[in-house]
Amino acid sequence: MCGIVGYTGGRAALDVVLDGLERLEYRGYDSAGITVQAAGGLATGKRAGKLVNLRKALADDPLPEAAVGIGHTRWATHGGPTDLNAHPHLDDDRRVAVVHNGIIENFAALRSELAARGHVLRSETDTEVVAHLLGEVFAGDLAEAMRVVCRRLEGAFTLVAVHADQPGVVVGARRNSPLVVGRGAGENFLASDVAAFIAFTREAVELGQDQVVELRADGVSVTDFQGRPAVVREYHVDWDASAAEKGGYDYFMLKEIAEQPKAVADTLLGRIGTDGQLTMGELALELGPVEKVVIVACGTAYHAGAIAKYAIEHWTRLPCEVEVASEFRYRDPILDRRTLVIAISQSGETMDTLMALRHAREQGAKVLAICNTNGSTIPRESDAVLYTHAGPEVAVASTKAFLTQLVACYLIALHLGQVRGTAPDPAGLVGQLCAAPAQVGRVLHTMEPVRALARSLADAHAVLFLGRHVGYPVALEGALKLKELAYMHAEGFAAGELKHGPIALIEDGLPVIVVVPSPRGHSVLHEKIVSNIQEIRARGARTIVIAEEGDHAVAPYADHLIRIPATHGLLQPLVATVPLQVFACELATAKGHEVDQPRNLAKSVTVE
Ligand code: F6R
Repeated sequence: MCGIVGYTGGRAALDVVLDGLERLEYRGYDSAGITVQAAGGLATGKRAGKLVNLRKALADDPLPEAAVGIGHTRWATHGGPTDLNAHPHLDDDRRVAVVHNGIIENFAALRSELAARGHVLRSETDTEVVAHLLGEVFAGDLAEAMRVVCRRLEGAFTLVAVHADQPGVVVGARRNSPLVVGRGAGENFLASDVAAFIAFTREAVELGQDQVVELRADGVSVTDFQGRPAVVREYHVDWDASAAEKGGYDYFMLKEIAEQPKAVADTLLGRIGTDGQLTMGELALELGPVEKVVIVACGTAYHAGAIAKYAIEHWTRLPCEVEVASEFRYRDPILDRRTLVIAISQSGETMDTLMALRHAREQGAKVLAICNTNGSTIPRESDAVLYTHAGPEVAVASTKAFLTQLVACYLIALHLGQVRGTAPDPAGLVGQLCAAPAQVGRVLHTMEPVRALARSLADAHAVLFLGRHVGYPVALEGALKLKELAYMHAEGFAAGELKHGPIALIEDGLPVIVVVPSPRGHSVLHEKIVSNIQEIRARGARTIVIAEEGDHAVAPYADHLIRIPATHGLLQPLVATVPLQVFACELATAKGHEVDQPRNLAKSVTVE
């Protein structure tokens, strides 16, 4: 949700910042802007729409050469996506420029106060108040001005600013919103995400809550909002720039779908010993007293949690609740020190999930994060973390992160089951998990008919998804992918619920995708879903059936049959989700949509 870049060093700041913004565009693409600190003062360019619009504008009307700059790519909250509302925002004298991610909740009061003191606020944004406040309090030290201003702000924010009267200096601040420092030789970077500077340095510094950072070409200093020196964590980024490139694919999403066998293998790596035993040293939590598991997450990560519930309850015999994080803390959930809360988040910055985990910890629960982003807020604030090691996920629609979240959930469930002595045949299950990368790879090699089917359905007005057991959250995930990418009406249902209402939606030719449970693991469920397929077919539905190899019972009722490898029933989502990702991606492409950057969305949702 908004991407921010800051640079000071010896390179052309304009190029560094534009390059960084391009890598952060997945965070928001409503407008883009940049300010450079040049010899004659600050110079700014900004445009509504994608970064390409800004690039065109700057080609026609270039900014002066400079070695210091800040930039922003926006996901609009306050004020529409216009040139005027695009960041950076400047004060009346145009001496200070600021970019912002988050929401300043007391901006209306600050705005009235500033207007009463004669300031002219030109945009509709909450951000602009910060520029005017910084301009008012600046007395030669931008970091000190930032500390003073931050103490007055309420809400969630990352701010990055430059001042014309303090050459070579970029200042950042963060509260509840991401900001990382990239340390180079004779140059330093600030960004919402390491992807922005990974082409220049892999040495990063994680900033803590309520901290202000002053960046010069030759040094970085960090304090809290009161000006006391702060302790920060330095780390090395374990992937390089090529991991964040398209690598020959037309879209990041296609690349990330294709990367799934490796991503799944990387999540397993180091967590299973040569003897087939789990080695989960990261789970430095006392699990013995756990009496209940609660999973909180949003969107696709929530679907991973919804699948995990089946495995956790089956393998550990502990009750497990799953809840969308945005609902969780507002209903006064029952939590105590015997509750293990699992927060699942690819980005580690999703505000709803962060707030849910904070609430859980306040109630005494232990929180275990499943996360893909090293140094992000959710793992930092959790009691333990299991990183998924999926590598950077750039496409807005989550794919490889989902599969790796599932693997992490299975590992946790198995580990808990082992600790409690409740997991049936843990060694067999570990063996089946280890087969997953190859099985996902096999699915990927058989996707051409799925792509052809997707293209043929580009004009469909709706698609329904049905599943039972773990196939139900898979159906929800398939529907979510189609909604966000193809902008189509898509709904996922528990197949057993069909008769309780949704069957009224079935009409002639309506495509319905059915995820069929394994006939070996769940013979009763299998029989029931075969009946469900017959029921919808009798009412005119066009049935698209995802069923495991060797499942012959479904074939007579499938207008289209998509085969997946036979797996343990609980692990089936690892292979059954892949055709749904491919289907949504291809259908969206056929409709001419921007697959990596669907309308109205942003990858990392850092506001509630
Ligand atoms: C859908 C999607 C979103 C995210 C959700 C949570 O494809 O990507 O639904 O899954 O916004 O994001 P994280 O996992 O970063 O907390």
